[in-house]
Amino acid sequence: MGTPPLRREQSRSVQPAARLRGEPRLPGDKSISHRALIMAALAEGRSLIDGAGDGRDVQATAGIVAALGASVKRVREDGLNVDYAVASPGVEGLHEADGVLDCRNSGTSLRVCSGVLAGLPFFSVLDGDASLRSRPVARIIEPLRSMGADLRARRSDSLPPLVVIGRSQLRAIDFETRVPSAQVKSAILLAGLRAQGRTTVREAVATRDHTERMLRSRGVEVRRVSENESGGGPVAWTLEGGAWLSPLDERVPADPSAAAFWLVAGAIHPDAALTLRGVGVNPTRRAAIDFLVRMGARIEETAVGEPSGDIGEPLADLTVRSSELTAIDLGPAEVAAAIDEIPILCLAATQARGRTTIRGAGELRNKESDRIAGIAAGLTALGARIVVSGDDITITGPTPLAGAATETLDDHRLAMTFAVAGLIARGATTIDLAESAAVSYPSFFPELERLRA
Ligand code: S3P
Repeated sequence: MGTPPLRREQSRSVQPAARLRGEPRLPGDKSISHRALIMAALAEGRSLIDGAGDGRDVQATAGIVAALGASVKRVREDGLNVDYAVASPGVEGLHEADGVLDCRNSGTSLRVCSGVLAGLPFFSVLDGDASLRSRPVARIIEPLRSMGADLRARRSDSLPPLVVIGRSQLRAIDFETRVPSAQVKSAILLAGLRAQGRTTVREAVATRDHTERMLRSRGVEVRRVSENESGGGPVAWTLEGGAWLSPLDERVPADPSAAAFWLVAGAIHPDAALTLRGVGVNPTRRAAIDFLVRMGARIEETAVGEPSGDIGEPLADLTVRSSELTAIDLGPAEVAAAIDEIPILCLAATQARGRTTIRGAGELRNKESDRIAGIAAGLTALGARIVVSGDDITITGPTPLAGAATETLDDHRLAMTFAVAGLIARGATTIDLAESAAVSYPSFFPELERLRA
C-alpha cells in the first residue's frame, strides 16, 4: 500500500552538516506569548505584544481571546514572530463565543484559558486536535470546580472537549497541585483574580513562574511563599481576589525551549559555533542550559538588558561550541524543571560518555505525544542505546548515529530532536510529519539549513 500521500508530503530529509555556524533566529517564548495574549484580553484598554512566537499554538490562543471579544491585530509579522496590538473591553466586557474555542494542538491554550473562563459567567467549549483530545483535564477540573465553576469533559471528566460554565464570583482556594504543572497553577491563579479572598497554589517543585511575573507587571500583587527562598523545593503562590489588570506594552524574550535544540546541535556537532540572542533565562526555565553545562557543554552566557515593558524576565546571549559531553543523572524534580527539553537532552545523552539516567519522567507521556515512547523509538532507529523501564530512561553513550526513518508522532519537539540528530548522523535522516515543528517554531527547518553555510 505504501506511505499515504499526506505523510510523504510532510516528511523531510536532513543530511549531515560538515559544519554549523551562525545565529539561528528564535521564536518568542511560547509560554510567555500565550500569557501575554490572555492577560491583554483581561486588561481594559490597549496592550502591545512585540515578538510573540507565531507558532500554531500561540495562534490558537490569539483566536480564543478574539472569539471572546478582544480585538487582536497582527501589526507586524516575519514568518517566525508577530507583533500584536490587543484592544480589550476588559474582563467584564468579554462575552460568550459563538462557537467552539479551538485550542488545536495546544495544552497551554486549553488549560490556562480554562482558568480565565471559570471566572466568566457564560458557557464555553474548548476542543482541539486528536492529540489534545488525549490529554488529561481532570487536573484542571478539580480545582476550578472547587472554586465554584462548572466543568465537564468527555470520558468521566478526563479528556477534552471541555465545557466550562463560569461564574463572575468564584471562591478562593488553597490548593496543592498533584503533578508539577505551570498550566494548572496559572489557571488557578487567573481564576483567583475573580475569587473573593486569597487564593493559594502550592507546588512540590517550582514550575515556570511567567504568570506570576506578568501579573505583577500588570499591577497585581502576587506573593511567593517558599520554604527555600533561593528556589527549588516546595513553593506556594498567593494572590488576593478582585484585582484588575492594567494594559501593558511588552516584548517577549526568545524561547529557551527552542534555543535548547541549537545548544544541543552545537554541543554534539564536531565543528560548531552558534550564537543565540536575547534568550529568556528565567531561573524556572533555564534548567536545560544548566544541565548541558553540567554535561560539559561549552556554553558562554552574557546577560543582556531586560526587554521593554519590564515583564521581569532576565535575558542572555548564549554561544555554544563543539563539546565533549559526559553523562548526567536527572531525577523527577530535574525532569519537571526541563519538561519540554527532555527529548533534546536525550539526544545529547547519546553523544555523552557514560550512562545517563532520567528518572520519574512519567509526565512526558501526557505531552503532545507519549514522548518517552516516541524518543525511545526514534533514537533507537538512529542507532542509539536507550532503554525505557517504566518512567525511567537510560541512555548509554557515546554512540555514532546512522540516518534512518524517524516517526515524530506529529509532535513538534520530537520532529526537531530527530532533525538535529540528522545533522550528526551518517547518511540521510527522514522525519515524518516534520511540519509539526510549526506548532512552536515555524522557521525551524529553514534555520537549520542556513546554519550549514
Ligand atoms: C507550559 C507548561 C508545561 C510545558 C508546556 C508549556 C506553560 O506544561 O510542558 O509546554 O506554558 O505553562 P505543564 O505545566 O502542564 O507541565
